Amino acid sequence: MSTKTLQKSLRYRHFEINSRLRYFKPESAKSNKTFAEEISRSLNQKEKSINPKFFYDIKGSELFDDICELPEYYLTRTETNLLKTIGNELEKFVTADMRLVELGSGSAVKTRLLLDVLTKIQNKTEYFPIDISDVLQESSLKLLEGYENLSITGVIDSYEGGLEFVEKYDNKPNLIAFLGSSFGNFTPEFGFAFLQKISSIMKNNDLFFIGLDLIKDKVVLENAYDDSAGITANFNLNILSRINAELNANFVISQFAHYSLYNEKEQRIEMYLRSLEDQKVEIKKANLQLSIEKDELIHTEHSHKYSISQIKNIMHKAGFEIEKIWHDTNKPYALFLASKN
Ligand code: AVJ
Repeated sequence: MSTKTLQKSLRYRHFEINSRLRYFKPESAKSNKTFAEEISRSLNQKEKSINPKFFYDIKGSELFDDICELPEYYLTRTETNLLKTIGNELEKFVTADMRLVELGSGSAVKTRLLLDVLTKIQNKTEYFPIDISDVLQESSLKLLEGYENLSITGVIDSYEGGLEFVEKYDNKPNLIAFLGSSFGNFTPEFGFAFLQKISSIMKNNDLFFIGLDLIKDKVVLENAYDDSAGITANFNLNILSRINAELNANFVISQFAHYSLYNEKEQRIEMYLRSLEDQKVEIKKANLQLSIEKDELIHTEHSHKYSISQIKNIMHKAGFEIEKIWHDTNKPYALFLASKN
């Protein structure tokens, strides 16, 4: 399909940054609820919550990068080390015209490890990051510097929208990567529907590559989300600073504390902000006056953990055939490579 037809049928706008970097962005942002609307709804409930996607403003993204360096937070390190050791094996599954499609613009380190595999066997390599927030131009330009034969096409859209875009774009095989255990933020129900969506969009020669944190010792899990340096606490509390700054609110940050636990039955880390006082908060741009009781919890994140057999099961039911599982046994974590069944 030519770019013109494509733009016409899907109504994406096309931005050419240079000969190796461009973006596609939907013309009509699919009536995305604003930050104010979502916060106004989710805090105006008996059980208050804030969606974890709102963690990642500039400060929050920096804090998350710091979390990834923490001794207790094994996830990023474990996944990166796994990726480093499996390059030669992954290479066997990759074809000469396969492009890398990444859900979330990802961390540059992990993207590079995958690009290393592709560029090793390809003359020209394509990378399509899909991200709802304007994909960072800076990091794309840096990536281009490192790989002479790389071209980047950013798709600024939801994961589902972006995947549909890529699949209609042409018939090239795609290696769709969803790393970092981001899947853990989804409820099992939504996660299953999401996997079904991915498999339904995939062509027979596409591959899906997902990295997931696994069930493990409760203390190891709880320490990963409540580190001794207090970075995770700052990351969690930063969401209130963001609401203060962007929605003209008056949360007193020192009157909240980070609280997290591993819920064994539900197989998930649960993160909350606990109110240290009876207090009132006004969020002007969300038209909201809140009364928060001492010890009341505002839910901010779930991070679900699975066993390998559970994931195998879910993936089979969602329409995948598992090609290969790589697995760290020290800090249980797994990478699954799957094709469409
Ligand atoms: C980015 C969703 C994978 O759940 O481990 C890290 C986010 N929250 N510490 C995770 C997070 C607190 C992270 N994910």
